[in-house]
Amino acid sequence: MSTPATSVVRYSRFFSLRKARTVLDYGAGTLRNAMYLAGQGFTVYAADVPEQVKVLRSHPGAATLAGLLEVGDLVGSRLGADLVLCTYVFNIILTRAQRKLYLDNIVANLRPGGYLLIEVNSRREEIGCGSAFQHYHCCDDKARSYTHDEFDRLLLPYNFQRICHYYSTHALAAIYQLRSEKAVT
Ligand SMILES: C[S@@+](CC[C@H](N)C(=O)[O-])C[C@H]1O[C@@H](n2cnc3c(N)ncnc32)[C@H](O)[C@@H]1O
Repeated sequence: MSTPATSVVRYSRFFSLRKARTVLDYGAGTLRNAMYLAGQGFTVYAADVPEQVKVLRSHPGAATLAGLLEVGDLVGSRLGADLVLCTYVFNIILTRAQRKLYLDNIVANLRPGGYLLIEVNSRREEIGCGSAFQHYHCCDDKARSYTHDEFDRLLLPYNFQRICHYYSTHALAAIYQLRSEKAVT
């Protein structure tokens, strides 16, 4: 089995302790994270673009998943997941419209109080085309890296609150929680 993303290994126990058992791995790639979490007893849905889902249907581990979904299925699926994984996906989505759809689908499939784990490349020296805020609004059609401040600004309108983050030499990982009407525990 290929090595899971560092943040997934680092935080899987935290999610277990918070009873976040149902996971949507959104942009699952080769299923490295989905297989790891399924092996830890999580109930895992994996979603990706249709071409990748076609490949994954013959993956030996696919049968252990709760479901394998194409991105389009997520628009109406309302999974009520406890956790959405987004590792090395958001930074490769090239257009603003696709990024918005990605975030809309996360919120539609996450229960109130659920968690979003994001891991992306982060190179501090990469400046972009101006301020972080400007970048989101003017630099379309480029893969890029992010800082936690940029994610805070992106995710606040979706009612996400960052609860922790860390930087490694090349990456940023952060956990956000979707606020619920009731007090979040
Ligand atoms: C760099 S791979 C990361 C895969 C996996 N998350 C991991 O950490 O190993 C990016 C994945 O995102 C998928 N992807 C690209 N655009 C996407 C989109 N708009 N919505 C969902 N998945 C997307 C790709 O097909 C690919 O499987």
